[in-house]
Amino acid sequence: FDTVDLIRVKRSSGALSTEQIDWLIDAYTRGYVEDAQMAAFAMAVFLNGMERREIRDMTLAMIASGSTMDFSALPKATVDKHSTGGVGDKITLPLAPLVASFGVAVPQLSGRGLGHTGGTLDKLESIPGWQASISNERMFEILADVGAVICAAGSGLAPADGKLYALRDITGTVEAIPLIASSIMSKKIAEGTSALVLDVKFGSGAFIQDIAQSRLLAQTMVDLGKDAGVTTSALLTDMNTPLGLTIGNALEVRESLETLAGGGPADIRELTVALAREMLTLAGLPDADVEGALDGGAAMDTWRRMIEAQGGDPAAPLPVARETHVVTASSTGFVTRQEALPFGIGAWRLGAGRARKQDPVVATAGIELHAKPGDRVVEGQPLFTLHADDASRFARALEAVEGAWTIGSEAPAVSPRVVERI
Ligand code: URA
Repeated sequence: FDTVDLIRVKRSSGALSTEQIDWLIDAYTRGYVEDAQMAAFAMAVFLNGMERREIRDMTLAMIASGSTMDFSALPKATVDKHSTGGVGDKITLPLAPLVASFGVAVPQLSGRGLGHTGGTLDKLESIPGWQASISNERMFEILADVGAVICAAGSGLAPADGKLYALRDITGTVEAIPLIASSIMSKKIAEGTSALVLDVKFGSGAFIQDIAQSRLLAQTMVDLGKDAGVTTSALLTDMNTPLGLTIGNALEVRESLETLAGGGPADIRELTVALAREMLTLAGLPDADVEGALDGGAAMDTWRRMIEAQGGDPAAPLPVARETHVVTASSTGFVTRQEALPFGIGAWRLGAGRARKQDPVVATAGIELHAKPGDRVVEGQPLFTLHADDASRFARALEAVEGAWTIGSEAPAVSPRVVERI
């Protein structure tokens, strides 16, 4: 095929054949199709979309670009969860051991954060000794024994996606449903899980703000999963407000521990329980007593074993920031608005996130909220605390969160996080 011809087809809203898509992805992976050409193709898809059959072909071609994993030898059902990302989204931390405490295997291949969204591996790395990279053999051992593994995905899974995602990131072509759906699902299908629950976010802290677009993304991914023989469902969840009360790596681990101990903020518990029920239902355990496993300590026991299995010390104190800065309420009333995105950017500027892939993150940095939408506050009361190792970071973080919350006289209606199931 001629690459330019294929770009022209998409440019004029045509559809590519299965053979053309296979060829394009293979040729791009091997460096025959250049980045400039793939960028033009991605932009044409961004503008003109893809048919359902093309999206499936694209997903399968990206899976075929690398290796796949196979957990069928494990004497347990496997079920995985993927979140499209948000601010304060630490749900994987309590969720994986919670689900594993019922005898289900949870192979959670995770990533690092980029920009204002945090990464699960960055969070866990604030636990002294914990290692993100483990061999496939060790992963199997831990899945057989403990049941939950949260680790770094090897570069062998869907390498075409690794290359294409990096290119989309610098060419303004990330937010296209066919490209997002095939990107996420190629990695999840290559990972070899038998069931998958997707947490698809909408709202200011999500990378798709509009609920109708998020619904379309969720449906597209659920269809791709089913086509590939993976039992897949999705929850559509609200990401307009930060999740829980903490944003930042060690702070989020602390909140996850509170949740595993049966406490934690109501929205974290709501989402953890809803996703656990969904995962356990797909694994054939629709009646599992999920709340009992949080309140009775079974989930916490599995957490400790999961952390120890990867070299971490679950009893070690978490690192704490050297400096803090408290912001107080300027009036008395109810918190009526708290925008996720500015708080995510604020935490990033404090050191919790990275601007480039190779940058380190600061484990202790972040924001701790003391009130959420619906809470009553009194003038002068602490609203949130900034945490950093270096006090010079406070000014730019404060700039980011400026105007991101409102205190009004009437209590707002507080909506649940989980809005729909697909
Ligand atoms: N996450 C992914 O892995 N791929 C995308 O395209 C968007 C989010």
